[in-house]
Amino acid sequence: ICFLLILMKRTSKPNIFSPSPLSMKQFLDFGSTNACERTSFVFLRQELPVRLANIVKEISVLPPRLLATPSVQLLHSWYIQSLMEILDFLDKSPDDHRVLEMFVDILESVRNRHNDVVPTMAQGIIEYKDAFDRQDAVTDHNIQYFLDRFYTSRISIRMLINQHTLIFKGNTNPAHPNTIGCIDSVCEVTEVAQDAYESAKMLCEQYYLGVPELELRQMNANNKQEPIHISYVPSHLYHMLFELFKNAMRATIENHDTSRSLPPIKVMVALGGEDLTIKMSDRGGGVPFRKTERLFSYMYSTAPRPSIEDKHRAPLAGFGYGLPISRLYTRYFQGDLQLYSMEGHGTDAVIHLKVTY
Ligand SMILES: Nc1ncnc2c1ncn2[C@@H]1O[C@H](COP(=O)(O)OP(=O)(O)OP(=O)(O)O)[C@@H](O)[C@H]1O
Ligand SMILES: [Mg+2]
Repeated sequence: ICFLLILMKRTSKPNIFSPSPLSMKQFLDFGSTNACERTSFVFLRQELPVRLANIVKEISVLPPRLLATPSVQLLHSWYIQSLMEILDFLDKSPDDHRVLEMFVDILESVRNRHNDVVPTMAQGIIEYKDAFDRQDAVTDHNIQYFLDRFYTSRISIRMLINQHTLIFKGNTNPAHPNTIGCIDSVCEVTEVAQDAYESAKMLCEQYYLGVPELELRQMNANNKQEPIHISYVPSHLYHMLFELFKNAMRATIENHDTSRSLPPIKVMVALGGEDLTIKMSDRGGGVPFRKTERLFSYMYSTAPRPSIEDKHRAPLAGFGYGLPISRLYTRYFQGDLQLYSMEGHGTDAVIHLKVTY
């Protein structure tokens, strides 16, 4: 019903080619009450081409020299191919089972085709900057604006594809009965934080001799005895926390003599009536206030640039994508990510998420 309402709203809009934003509540409502594959198919076969076409259009108006790089050309071709493949379904009958099955298969192959979009786009920007960069503030600003929209759109397309394929492929995971597609309606925040810490720790150990400990606390104002659960996409939360842990570890280690004990990374998770807040505090020396917003620029990094070809060894830092992409993930569901630094002491990275009941 929810999807039908959205569709009706869409058709009454003057411009049917604008994407329809969906909230966490809409995803949950649709997935939990006898989700209808036919309705979802009819929605997506129009919605996905709208979103893909918008990206294709935005890529095509990039600065010509950026557009001409092999990486951006490759990306462009992926989006056009995916757009054509989905448009193919516009005249197919939603009542035919084989059509619905084919649609799921096509969505999976579209998703796989686009797996490497982030590093490929990053490579394109590097090629462009290396060849032509004259430290032009206007171009930098435009690229930042484009990438924010481009990656947000990618997050949303993948979310739509994942919901459809996970819900209708029929493989409900008995170990996680509370998942609706890729959303976990009882996502345990501290568990995700612990996992993200362990992964960052493993990576950190490959580069440094020590790793700061984790001190994790939580405050559930709604029920003090209960661990904190929220409806959220665990993979999004994991991604943001992993990025923040890598940054906090690197700052802590570079700011301390590793032969002595390192100050721990402190994480506080708090749940109120409206917000779920996660604060990660490190004692990594912080950054000057003047530079705080710059940390969210794509490609801004104080680490040496890692080799993009070396796929066997993930870097701990260096692309300058950790913070900006994490902030997009938080904003996708109306949250935010902010950094408060005390230069000379350390940094608090704060994730605010909206709670959906
Ligand atoms: N907790 C922190 N303390 C001090 N500086 C930080 C902290 N977090 C981020 N920074 C600074 O912000 C820069 C950008 O961070 P960001 O995570 O976006 O990119 P990165 O860590 O350099 O590379 P990657 O894309 O691999 O994450 C870092 O290079 C670092 O200089
Ligand atoms: Mg980082």
